Amino acid sequence: MSKKSNETSYISARESRRISRENQKVIRKLDKRLSRKRVPESEYVTQMHDKNNVVEFDNLHTYFFTDVGTVKAVDGVTFNVPVGKTVGIVGESGCGKSVTSLSLMQLVQRPTGQIVEGEIRLNLGDKAFDVAKMPIEAMQKVRGNVVSMIFQEPMTSLNPVFRIGYQLDEVISLHTPEMSPEAVKARSIEAIKMVGIADAEGIYNRYPHELSGGMRQRIVIAMALACNPRLIIADEPTTALDVTIQAQILELLRNLKNEINASIMLITHDLGVIAEMADYVVVMYAGRVVEKGLANEVFLDPRHPYTIGLMQSKPVINKMVDRLYSIPGSVPNPVNMPDYCYFRDRCEQCVERCQGLYPPEIRVTDTHIVSCWKYYKEGGAE
Ligand SMILES: Nc1ncnc2c1ncn2[C@@H]1O[C@H](COP(=O)(O)OP(=O)(O)OP(=O)(O)O)[C@@H](O)[C@H]1O
Ligand SMILES: [Mg+2]
Repeated sequence: MSKKSNETSYISARESRRISRENQKVIRKLDKRLSRKRVPESEYVTQMHDKNNVVEFDNLHTYFFTDVGTVKAVDGVTFNVPVGKTVGIVGESGCGKSVTSLSLMQLVQRPTGQIVEGEIRLNLGDKAFDVAKMPIEAMQKVRGNVVSMIFQEPMTSLNPVFRIGYQLDEVISLHTPEMSPEAVKARSIEAIKMVGIADAEGIYNRYPHELSGGMRQRIVIAMALACNPRLIIADEPTTALDVTIQAQILELLRNLKNEINASIMLITHDLGVIAEMADYVVVMYAGRVVEKGLANEVFLDPRHPYTIGLMQSKPVINKMVDRLYSIPGSVPNPVNMPDYCYFRDRCEQCVERCQGLYPPEIRVTDTHIVSCWKYYKEGGAE
């Protein structure tokens, strides 16, 4: 990209064509890998680094090859989701939370979006697969059965022209084809009851538009849990709902998770939701993890200036302020990420080392890790 385009984010039609041609080459190669048929399992079988994790993201890079350049949406993300625990992922809009979870489901928009580097180790109990290497054919067996996803807006998961029962039946019979239609129906009704809807038979015959937003989200949760997944990804599951329903849905999610001993990856902007639900917190900024640790550690002792800024920008009951804190500046352009700390230009606590390369991971405790030069000391943490 020319110097001028770096400064103005403007590129000429000619340059765009050149980028597009280059992208085609890269995309073709990456995409071919995914669409192969009958790939032997040995190509994507792997070992968990710790058997107590259900997923291990290891240096994941997911890029979008667009005509204006490569968007590094996820740029080296590493964190684990332990069995039976809830991991909350926070960070501002566009920092790569959804793309991280979509990478795990292999639902990143193809062919522009591709996993280019790193591993996603998924624990299936008796074995482990590396999702980054799995072809689509193999992934289809895992999706829904092992990992399932709840989206922000229930109507994106429900088809408006089919009855609720039909849609639930479809999910269940797809994953357990040996079940008889009567058994499938019974299972669907049981799933509707499980998410706290009294008139399960009635709802079974209704269309999605006949239900309220909260009920629709419950149905989506029922669908996600119908096949007893090991991991539930909830991407902003309550943003479209009012606060009372939000509390009910979170409570429901927590109880159901315990019932089937699943783990939850909870993505949200809302620090209050994380505080209530999460055992571990991962803070993302511009496609990278800047801080992670036990929820208590990150909430009571936030270290990264970005996390501290996030905490300050949250309203606190009984604390009068004229104006809530807002972090100055904006996120760097994802097409042209700098090689120094991505937060440096907005940071009020810079030290001399911040002029250098991107900071390494620094251990504050065994579980609490931060990427910030402020805590760097030769040979260890602060
Ligand atoms: N299909 C796509 N093509 C190009 N860029 C994309 C695409 N999808 C996402 N991105 C880019 O990837 C980055 C990360 O997006 P992502 O959706 O993961 O953000 P997010 O953290 O989930 O944000 P939000 O909180 O708003 O949901 C953004 O810069 C976004 O513009
Ligand atoms: Mg998102």
